[in-house]
Amino acid sequence: MSRPIWIKHAAQLATLASNVKGPRSKEAMSELGLIEDGSLWIEDGLIQAVGTTKKLKELFSDKLDEAEVVDATGHLVTPGLVDPHTHVVYGGSREREFEKRLEGAAYMEIMNAGGGIHATTRMTREATEEQLIEQTIGRLDSFLAHGVTTIEGKSGYGMNLETELMQLRVMKKLQEQHVIEIVPTFMGAHAVPPEFKGRENEYVDHLIHDMLPVIAEEKLAEFQDVFCEKGVFTPEQSERVLEAGKRFGFIPKIHADEIESYGGAELAAKIGAISAEHLLKASEAGIQAMAQSGTIACLLPATALYLREAAAAGRKMIDAGVAVAISTDCNPGSSPTTSMPLVMNLACISMRLTPAEALTAATFNAACAINRQDKVGSLEVGKQADLVLWNVKNYQELQYLFGVNHVNSVWKKGVKVV
Ligand code: NIG
Ligand code: FE
Repeated sequence: MSRPIWIKHAAQLATLASNVKGPRSKEAMSELGLIEDGSLWIEDGLIQAVGTTKKLKELFSDKLDEAEVVDATGHLVTPGLVDPHTHVVYGGSREREFEKRLEGAAYMEIMNAGGGIHATTRMTREATEEQLIEQTIGRLDSFLAHGVTTIEGKSGYGMNLETELMQLRVMKKLQEQHVIEIVPTFMGAHAVPPEFKGRENEYVDHLIHDMLPVIAEEKLAEFQDVFCEKGVFTPEQSERVLEAGKRFGFIPKIHADEIESYGGAELAAKIGAISAEHLLKASEAGIQAMAQSGTIACLLPATALYLREAAAAGRKMIDAGVAVAISTDCNPGSSPTTSMPLVMNLACISMRLTPAEALTAATFNAACAINRQDKVGSLEVGKQADLVLWNVKNYQELQYLFGVNHVNSVWKKGVKVV
């Protein structure tokens, strides 16, 4: 048995504990479970106790000498950040496309001309598994350095069985090589590959009959996602592939209303998707439908900024009763970043979330969006000791001092990893 860890005297401990079970919306998004002069007791990778330093000193009076002590005086401590939407496994990079977009080319225009997602698909198909592992480890290290301890990861740069499987297997193998947990999502429906151009429905059939059964058989994904967008997959095609996925046990997610308003939010609510992503152009009716169905809005303000688009209506969604999570969308085209702290800053600046709401969106609600709320996303007894000690004194300061990495130290399952 390893030594217990006693974190004491945190200027502010944001536990994110709340009586609300499940994804939080409205006022519940501001409940951070704050403790001043906060303290945590960790044993075997799990949180044994949470409270004031005074209380824990009493509780563990006979064990204090055994513990490895971390003096958090002057620091904020939060749960490890959770990123519920990434395309972290990919080959190559697209800096020339960035330049082209700044010169005036539109994102979809580049994609329709064979660049964008298709360019990364070519580079991913050409990569070896070892190369993908090596490149992804670099990104995971960067996530960790920014306080992120759990992420979701999507396939979708293969769009053929072989490379989709390779991306998902890379995620699985990385679980033995890296401390970050990657929750896998199958996204073969990221675009229609060139070999199926003009035969979109045949590609959907191919996904349903030839890919889903294999991914399910090998247990390589928990979720399924589709890019429901004008010129990519229609709401009907998206529904068909996600309904088929449900029969194999995959929980649906949808890239919805990113570039144009296309009924994606409504579809997410209709089919019981756990989350709908992007939603820059979500309609009023779509927002209401998501509030009704309890679909989580996974908002990606760094993507909006990077595409030079107005951000999603995060403020409006929370006020309407939608539970909001936020994410980097880490991918080589529309959001090449691993910085969840930046995403929290942007959630405040461009979507008018309050600093407290932004923290909930990046921890507890993010964990809910990938079904990990029983293990991570808050600092409560019995949960994994995934936490971050920040070089700021409170959560407001974390969101206020923007564009800077304030991480001091990170623990994953009770092990100090940064
Ligand atoms: O979430 N919109 C679709 N997929 C990604 C972008 C992928 C890419 O450009 O490579 C997104 O923005
Ligand atoms: Fe995405």
